[in-house]
Amino acid sequence: MDVVVIGAGAAGMMCAIEAGRRGRRVVVIDHARAPGEKIRISGGGRCNFTNRDAGPRNFLTSNPGFPISALKRFSAQDFIRRIEARGIAYHEKTLGQLFCDGSSRQVVDMLTEGLREAGAELRLATSVIGIDRTADGFELATTNGALACSSLVIATGGKSIPKMGATGFGYEIAERFGLKVQPTRPGLVPLTLEPGLLTRLAPLAGVSVEARVRHGKTSFDEGLLFTHRGLSGPAILQISSYWREGEEIEIAMAPGTDVFAQLRAARAANGRQAPSTLLAGILPKRLAQAIAEQEADGRNLADLSDKALRRIEAAVNGWRIKPVGSEGYRTAEVTLGGVDTTGLDSRSMQARDVPGLYFIGEVVDVTGWLGGYNFQWAWSSGWAAGQAV
Ligand code: FDA
Repeated sequence: MDVVVIGAGAAGMMCAIEAGRRGRRVVVIDHARAPGEKIRISGGGRCNFTNRDAGPRNFLTSNPGFPISALKRFSAQDFIRRIEARGIAYHEKTLGQLFCDGSSRQVVDMLTEGLREAGAELRLATSVIGIDRTADGFELATTNGALACSSLVIATGGKSIPKMGATGFGYEIAERFGLKVQPTRPGLVPLTLEPGLLTRLAPLAGVSVEARVRHGKTSFDEGLLFTHRGLSGPAILQISSYWREGEEIEIAMAPGTDVFAQLRAARAANGRQAPSTLLAGILPKRLAQAIAEQEADGRNLADLSDKALRRIEAAVNGWRIKPVGSEGYRTAEVTLGGVDTTGLDSRSMQARDVPGLYFIGEVVDVTGWLGGYNFQWAWSSGWAAGQAV
């Protein structure tokens, strides 16, 4: 065999298709019973398969220059062309995010048919028992027999959603072959709050608001959702990838609105008005009531000093909190960290010191924002390796 790809996910299948098209004899093995399971469940069943504007700035990695080459050589536009050639209808939801109109299964089918057309073999329900390096490549022992290959591609993804068979396999292989692995942690994940704050916020569970969530210099303007365990919604998932335990995040729930000016004007116009009435014009009603209750304690606007109005403004647009943790790999969409990119060639994804060994997709220390970027990295890195194996 020329190429063995371990992992029939987005990256592994893309790589195998490209290698097969180049005439390589390719086998893709996966311990799961079906290929592309994460594609199938992604985007609420509609797969946010790429982002129209995907570029290097949308990725977290300890080596920001690394993803540039692959993203340029196989871009979002290149993947969109494949989706269109296949006749898959799609739409832009928001912020460049492209989803299937129908079902994410269409993307899985496109890839499995692509494998067949390229002559690549798919072996499911197959686990790797051992990998040995030989003079001209690698020898694998699997639960379905032995395999020898000159190129071995690790496309086993990250640790998120262990229930679906996610493992730390790729990181272990990397370490065994002497590659460095950046510490891994859950990303794109809801954040949890301490019990006292959670009790106070309990009546808000289910409320969502368009917010600006900031961590240091990074901020995202997207939806925020109060939950029974803490905070979720796209803005929180995005910032969770930047946040570390012990750190604060700052939340503006009416970004771009001068809440203090509006409160003052309302006080001048009608001092008998309750602050919650004014806030309900800016925020969801339950949230407006909770903030007014906490900051004004039943007083009307005429009874509130400028200082008190500033406090209300801060509660709306300068809410600083210290989450206690995240919901972890159980619900995280991605794994941050992974195979250190300084050990890989950015054009081919080949390990610099282990010729013939490649790492692609989420197992690599390149993690995208929420919004189709992670699949684009899988397509781009898979494509790049597919040209080289
Ligand atoms: P992926 O995880 O897809 O594939 C790895 C494969 O390797 C799996 O088939 C697994 O079974 C196999 N494997 C693992 N260990 C193995 C072993 N030891 N032996 C054999 N096989 C093994 N991204 C995005 O851009 N848009 C979106 O809409 C979403 N939505 C989304 C929803 C949910 C719920 C999750 C959890 C994640 C997303 N993502 C996403 C993220 C996206 O799914 C993810 O980044 C890619 O699937 C990564 O592709 P890979 O091919 O690298 O790994």
